[in-house]
Amino acid sequence: MPQFTDTINRRRTFAIISHPDAGKTTLTEKLLLYGGAVHTAGSVKARKSDRHATSDWMAMEQERGISISTSVMRFEWNGCEMNLLDTPGHNDFSEDTYRTLAAADSAIMLIDAVKGVEPQTIKLFEVCRMRGIPIVTFINKMDREGRDPLELLSEIEDVLGIPTTPATWPVGQGKAFCGVYDRWHKRLLKFERADGGSNKVPIIEASIDDPALKAEIGQRLYENLVEGIELLDGAGSDFDRDAYLRGQMSPVFFGSALTNFGVEPFLDAFVDLAPAPREHITVDGDVVMPDDDVFSGFVFKIQANMDPRHRDRIAFFRICSGRFERGMQATLQRTGAKLTLSKSLTFMAQERVNLDEAFAGDIVGLWDSGQLHIGDTLCSSKSIVYEGIPRFSPENFVRVVLRDPLKRKQLKKGLDELSEEGAVQVFYDLQRMERDPILGAVGKLQFDVVQNRLQTEYNVNVTFDGLPYQHARWIEGNLDPADISRRSGTLCLHDIEDRLIVLFQSEWMMHRIIDDYRDKNVKFIAAVQPGRKAL
Ligand code: G4P
Repeated sequence: MPQFTDTINRRRTFAIISHPDAGKTTLTEKLLLYGGAVHTAGSVKARKSDRHATSDWMAMEQERGISISTSVMRFEWNGCEMNLLDTPGHNDFSEDTYRTLAAADSAIMLIDAVKGVEPQTIKLFEVCRMRGIPIVTFINKMDREGRDPLELLSEIEDVLGIPTTPATWPVGQGKAFCGVYDRWHKRLLKFERADGGSNKVPIIEASIDDPALKAEIGQRLYENLVEGIELLDGAGSDFDRDAYLRGQMSPVFFGSALTNFGVEPFLDAFVDLAPAPREHITVDGDVVMPDDDVFSGFVFKIQANMDPRHRDRIAFFRICSGRFERGMQATLQRTGAKLTLSKSLTFMAQERVNLDEAFAGDIVGLWDSGQLHIGDTLCSSKSIVYEGIPRFSPENFVRVVLRDPLKRKQLKKGLDELSEEGAVQVFYDLQRMERDPILGAVGKLQFDVVQNRLQTEYNVNVTFDGLPYQHARWIEGNLDPADISRRSGTLCLHDIEDRLIVLFQSEWMMHRIIDDYRDKNVKFIAAVQPGRKAL
């Protein structure tokens, strides 16, 4: 057996996907609390309120400091090393949110029991589906008068198109929510209320036909529970582990992150369900096993300009195989350069600390002087090259207005570099070749970053004119741009790799046009692989 197999099999690298306010910060905090990485709930929350104060540049600088330290949170559970990757949400929703999913082996989809499936959940779910990432669902806020649990399950199935299977079932809802029935172990877990959720809650375990249980939860809740379980056992689909691992079925858990109800049984089950690091496929189709002796992995995110006086950047690197050791040499496959990885960081409960050793599944923060790009592969020997990180279609667009026309060259250099780094996407009009570029981003805040970085790093002063487009699709197939440009509310552009992309003013318009081309051998694509054809 290869040397590190056990160590690697104990790793769980995952992300939480949710719509703002579903309770991601609260759940994250409770996972850290249960995992012993924080001792009282409250610390992550405090940082989030700092984050929320943001909208101007200064605050954003401050936020970068925060987001870097919460980028990866590590804790232990049942002998496993949990790497929880933070997917920026809220105001700072950006391409980084999507990219982070490229580094995760599985995801927790958090749904608000009152609101059900919301828009940002749908977008993030689609990215997971595209990558075949297994998803466990946690329906949160069961302590509030929410929607009927069965109705929530149907909504997930209808809107997201993924079959669900409840692993737990709630006992009561709203104020009456007091426990969950664990369908897989056929036991009832009743939670005891404790100090507003800042500590672990005690759990009483009982069998469903325990007479004491009926007395404990009351006749009405008991009858509802028995009825609910019978219904599920009769109608619900059984859990299929392989389908889950392929991302084609989601087990569902119920709970309340705020009161900690249901967090512990969820964590116990999640550790068993979530896959350990798996094999990765190279661009040549070779399979690299996580316990391969060769060290390899890829950069999925770059946090640039931590300190504006230095070009201080941290590249977030996901190890796909082998063992990392501080000071080791690795080849940057894109250029062939040999790098000595001497400045490496890990993140322990919001602290950045030096990292000496890490294994497949772990995330390493590599200090970078500007050589690394998003999607780059580093490896210790064999020539392994992984697929880059896809570019996702932006939803916000601006036209760049250059204040000083003599700075056009610097502008081009700046935009080329920022786009390579993944900070923004750059497009050009088909006719106006390389003049007045159009920028696209998943999150609007990204334009402030670009404006400021062009000013401070390239000495180029720009402003932006907002454009009314909300969606974009790359085109594959034989399509004459003139045909589309005739339709109102569209704009045809080239990206920096000369691929045709169409912008649409509304989702309705986009679907109409896609429908019109359905039988004409033209594909409208939402994500492309840099340097390669559309996915
Ligand atoms: P987010 O990171 O997904 O945006 O959500 P966050 O955890 O910040 O939670 C959003 C709001 O929902 C917070 O309330 C939080 O307390 C509440 N919340 C989270 N989980 C639960 C839950 O299980 N039950 C209930 N009832 N509420 C929950 P807030 O009023 O916005 O903030 P705060 O004043 O409570 O900090």
